Amino acid sequence: MTTPSDTRVTLSEIMRATEANLLGTVHGGNLMKAVDSIAGVVANRYAGGPAVTAALDEMTFLTPVRVGDILHSSAQLNWAGRSSMEVGVRVEVDRWDSNTDRVHVASAYLVFVAVDADGKPKAVPPLDLETPEEKRRFREAQIRREHRLARRAAIEASREAELAEGMAAASEGDA
Ligand SMILES: CC(C)(COP(=O)(O)OP(=O)(O)OC[C@H]1O[C@@H](n2cnc3c(N)ncnc32)[C@H](O)[C@@H]1OP(=O)(O)O)[C@@H](O)C(=O)NCCC(=O)NCCS
Repeated sequence: MTTPSDTRVTLSEIMRATEANLLGTVHGGNLMKAVDSIAGVVANRYAGGPAVTAALDEMTFLTPVRVGDILHSSAQLNWAGRSSMEVGVRVEVDRWDSNTDRVHVASAYLVFVAVDADGKPKAVPPLDLETPEEKRRFREAQIRREHRLARRAAIEASREAELAEGMAAASEGDA
């Protein structure tokens, strides 16, 4: 069985001038791409095949990344359900112009769903939890999942209620 630490992956890259925003620092979209890419690596490897991004939430940008900085993105699986998985990503940089400690610049949680050749959800293996840290991350991921699903259900219910109200008003107008 696979533990969360078995799934850990780190990628490093130098930030180029083509990745800058109007302020001259690295565009947030490029950091989001780095986060999605590394989380995808973790999810695909764990699923043993393709997995698609279903949601990206709680992405925090803590401090700007500068052109020339060395970006280190680390990711690991926090939680696995039937077909969905939560991957946690932490992004740090080494500043290009100093030997100071690594700086934490961003974090995010992403949901991936393993899919078959037709793009339909496919089962993933259960995750083996060993350390107290892995168990804590799993529990917290479960809480985030419940919130995501509850939010999605509440929005769908609100849209259905609005649709039903509109249809009721239209049929009153016809009468
Ligand atoms: C992700 C996708 C496959 C889910 O398909 P679906 O028909 O909604 O599947 P289901 O409702 O059966 O959900 C499948 C799993 O995903 C979870 N899920 C789906 N959307 C979710 C969301 N927004 N947040 C959390 N979990 C979600 C479900 O809870 C379920 O988990 P489980 O199997 O572990 O219990 C589908 O929505 C899709 O293809 N989306 C587009 C993906 C994409 O193009 N990504 C960008 C490029 S990779």
